[in-house]
Parts: sequence; structure tokens; C-alpha cells
Amino acid sequence: MATNITFHPGSVSAEERTGLLTQKGATIWLTGLSASGKSTIACALEQHLLHLHKFSYRLDGDNVRFGLNKDLGFDEKSRNENIRRTSEVSKLFADASCIAITAFISPYRADRAFAREIHEQASLPFIEAFVDAPLHVVEQRDPKGLYKKARAGEIKDFTGISAPYEAPENPEIHIDTSTTDVAESVRIITDYLKGKGYIS
Ligand code: PPS
Repeated sequence: MATNITFHPGSVSAEERTGLLTQKGATIWLTGLSASGKSTIACALEQHLLHLHKFSYRLDGDNVRFGLNKDLGFDEKSRNENIRRTSEVSKLFADASCIAITAFISPYRADRAFAREIHEQASLPFIEAFVDAPLHVVEQRDPKGLYKKARAGEIKDFTGISAPYEAPENPEIHIDTSTTDVAESVRIITDYLKGKGYIS
């Protein structure tokens, strides 16, 4: 725990930054089982927003684990820390007027609640999007063969098989990817952002 530290406010207020960059930041937090479609939706959404000339950036669980979070595994404590760091990073992106799109399983409600809390404390929009698909569907998709390995006992602590997934109770957005395609998912999220006035 650091001591003797002082927070230095910048010379540009949040309102001034938003005005100068003509964009308010936000975090769109995608949560769901492995192979539910988080990364696919995040990629398509980032592409769509950039084509609308909105500053947008994707933080993907797999990718962030190659760098910032390379020291973390999949036990509960590691996942807590993975999501704590990602929450702080996405908050920084949102504070910088970026639309941050996170794609993490983020299986624990308390961790997602922390992400929401630190955004709300900073008056930054936090949009939880539950990327939902039944276990039998994601297990059938199994694009990386991970469910098969988890069933065979070759991967421990695998979400949905041998580790918990606590589904969101009150997400801003709920997409069932067993019945909704990627383009429609992007439209649902974009319409939400427009409806709230976060993008025009
Ligand atoms: S978490 O739970 O939020 O910390 O996980 P996340 O950082 O999103 O990483 C999930 C990706 O890691 C791969 N993987 C596993 N997932 C779940 N459980 C276990 N044990 C595991 N081991 C490796 C897997 O590719 C996940 O990617 P997605 O895109 O979700 O399929």
C-alpha cells in the first residue's frame, strides 16, 4: 500500500475535455461465459464506433493477459485482481473520453460491482452488457477446444464447468447470442449509447 502520495488534478476539467474532444467517455463492460461471443461483439463494436469517428478501444481478457495481467491465473484471487486492474484501466480510458469496450468473463458479481462503483464515483458511464448463451451452446461452439479439455480434467477452474459464473442480475443490456447475431448485437449496443446521448 503506497503512503505519502498526493492526487494531482489536471488543468483541464472533465467537462472541458469532453467539449474539446466532442466526445464523452464510457465503459461498455461485456461479461459472459467463454465462447459466448464477447470478443466477437467487442471487435465488431469497436470497428463500428471507429467508423462513426468515435474514439473507441477494446480491452480483451485474453489479450490483456499477454501483458499487464501476464502474472495472473484463473483461481478466484487472480480473477479478482484481473478485473480490478481492468476496471481501473477502463476507467482511465473512459476518463480520457474514450469508449472503452471490455471483453472479460468477469464471473464474480462483486468484481463487476467494483468496476461500476469506481466509474460512477468519477461520473463516468458504465454499461454492463451480459453476453449470454446457454452452457450447452457455448460448449458446442468450443472454438478453442477449452470446454473439451475442461471436461477431460485437463484445465482446472474452468468457468461454467469447474468454476462459477455469477450472471448479472440487472445489466443495462442483455444479449442472447444463441438467437442474436453479431450485427444485431452491435446495433443493440449502439442504439443504447445513442438513446442515452453518449454518442450522436
Ligand atoms: S476472467 O474470468 O475475467 O478473469 O477471465 P478472462 O481474463 O476474460 O480470460 C478468459 C480467457 O482465458 C482463457 N482461459 C480460461 N477461461 C476460463 N476459465 C479458465 N480456467 C481458462 N483458462 C484459459 C479463455 O480463452 C478465455 O477467453 P474467452 O474469450 O472468454 O473464451
